[in-house]
Amino acid sequence: MTKQDSKGVHSHEITGPVALTSRHLLGIEGMSPIEIRSLLDRGHMFADNPHDGVSDALKGKTIINLFYENSTRTRVSFELAAKRLGGSVLNISVAGSSVKKGETLLDTATTLNAMHPDILVIRHNCSGAALLLSQHVDAAVINAGDGRHEHPTQALLDALTIRRRIGRIEGLKIAICGDIANSRVARSNIHLLGTLGAELQLVCPVTLLPADIGNMGVSVYTDFEAGIEGCDIVMMLRLQTERMAGTETPSQREYFNLFGLDSGKLMRAAPKALVMHPGPMNRGVEIDSATADDVEKSLIRTQVEMGVAARMACLEALVTRQT
Ligand code: NCD
Repeated sequence: MTKQDSKGVHSHEITGPVALTSRHLLGIEGMSPIEIRSLLDRGHMFADNPHDGVSDALKGKTIINLFYENSTRTRVSFELAAKRLGGSVLNISVAGSSVKKGETLLDTATTLNAMHPDILVIRHNCSGAALLLSQHVDAAVINAGDGRHEHPTQALLDALTIRRRIGRIEGLKIAICGDIANSRVARSNIHLLGTLGAELQLVCPVTLLPADIGNMGVSVYTDFEAGIEGCDIVMMLRLQTERMAGTETPSQREYFNLFGLDSGKLMRAAPKALVMHPGPMNRGVEIDSATADDVEKSLIRTQVEMGVAARMACLEALVTRQT
């Protein structure tokens, strides 16, 4: 049951902790609509009650954040989420760890496993790293982004953001635009938003289309304005140059002219279209500042806020399964 408050925020009745069928959260692919919806309902509840003390599900539990790639919002929001649930959090910065002395991921995993953490949150530049880790540790593993593969908690927080603003996902026309080929955010969102019944349009240059696009059940556009035509949500992605060969786009200025979002191009979307971006943004490359900072149309700050609530639901679900 959804209700709407005086500010137009949609929320749900309070629901209990979710128990997932899997011991780990490695990706959205393969999750059932019921599991996804339950995590979103629980996330709604945490978003409505953002302070400590709503649940102490992580009391006495240890969570290790193991980040092999840079991160601001994801790492901080996992830490805040775990602390709000009463957990103890350790952050391992790879720059200051034995990884810099040549230790492999599996040796690091074995070392950490010996200290008996309850949950390991990993971000790694290789697709499949979270799965590999999960096969070698006793802790529950959460994938906080593995290469170009998946970033499940980002897709959950994006869906939570949309549901709180619009009240539903089903039937929405959503454009995912930009560097799809290198984006784990796009891949997780394609699975999640597709599973919940959104109509998805991918918009990008041919050079940034993933090879397996034919199996994804989405429409593809290489013309930006045609791709966002009539869309309820325009989700922009960063040009992930760290995963590129360097020949995918002629120049950042050219890319912005053809695929960057500004208020003129946004007129082609639905009249009340909303804009999203997982961050970090490259202003003037995939989106201009006026659009990113437009408080009426941009959901970008809400996405960051929902990151904590969505991750609380995920952390709680994994320990609920353990007990
Ligand atoms: C995304 C990521 O790391 O995949 N960022 C994030 O988690 N907020 C997207 C990106 O880096 O562009």
